[in-house]
Amino acid sequence: MYAISLGEDGAELRPLEVWHAAELLAHMDRGREFIGRHVGLPDVVADLDGARAWLRSYADKRAADAGALHGIWLDGRLVGGLLFRVWDTPSGVCEAGCWLEPAAAGRGLVTRGLRVLLDWAFGERGMHRVEWHVSSANGPSIDVARRLGMTREGVLRENYPHRGVRTSTEVWSVLAPEWRAADH
Ligand SMILES: CC(C)(COP(=O)(O)OP(=O)(O)OC[C@H]1O[C@@H](n2cnc3c(N)ncnc32)[C@H](O)[C@@H]1OP(=O)(O)O)[C@@H](O)C(=O)NCCC(=O)NCCS
Repeated sequence: MYAISLGEDGAELRPLEVWHAAELLAHMDRGREFIGRHVGLPDVVADLDGARAWLRSYADKRAADAGALHGIWLDGRLVGGLLFRVWDTPSGVCEAGCWLEPAAAGRGLVTRGLRVLLDWAFGERGMHRVEWHVSSANGPSIDVARRLGMTREGVLRENYPHRGVRTSTEVWSVLAPEWRAADH
């Protein structure tokens, strides 16, 4: 099993697989409210069956080369994750996403992890465009897009009903030549 170091604090990126269901649920329980403010993941990972089913959906995506899921571990504890929710090799377009439990925020874990994944997407897999879809109310995630050198392309107005409220989604992206030209 691989583990990619994210820095001197011991943070690691590792595969997040079906057998981690109980660990994922315990992590989600620590961050349920924080993570769920703008995204529906905690509602999907509501119990052990939900955790297993969601992890299974990413195992299926991985098998089809249609997506990927990685966990972030800090001090041996699962504290968050990074994913390619969409991955389309023929068009060279994918969409990345992320989450952290609150105790792990503010340390650059997601930005550091995404740099590794975007290097891989552009460098090894020949992707041309990585997208970032984010609620216009989600300041910390918009900051991640900025730190990765993404460009804000537009807003899908009130396209996402989340917990009874229609929210708007900003679309950000970075293209392969921009990624290669930037100093990471
Ligand atoms: C979005 C989310 C992952 C951002 O978390 P985050 O910790 O702010 O993001 P990063 O891991 O990139 O860390 C950046 C912070 O660490 C600091 N930092 C410390 N070391 C750093 C490093 N080596 N590199 C980058 N930033 C670093 C930055 O200054 C920044 O802190 P600030 O916000 O006080 O300025 C988090 O708010 C979250 O999980 N939200 C709930 C789920 C969610 O909304 N997901 C996104 C859906 S689109």
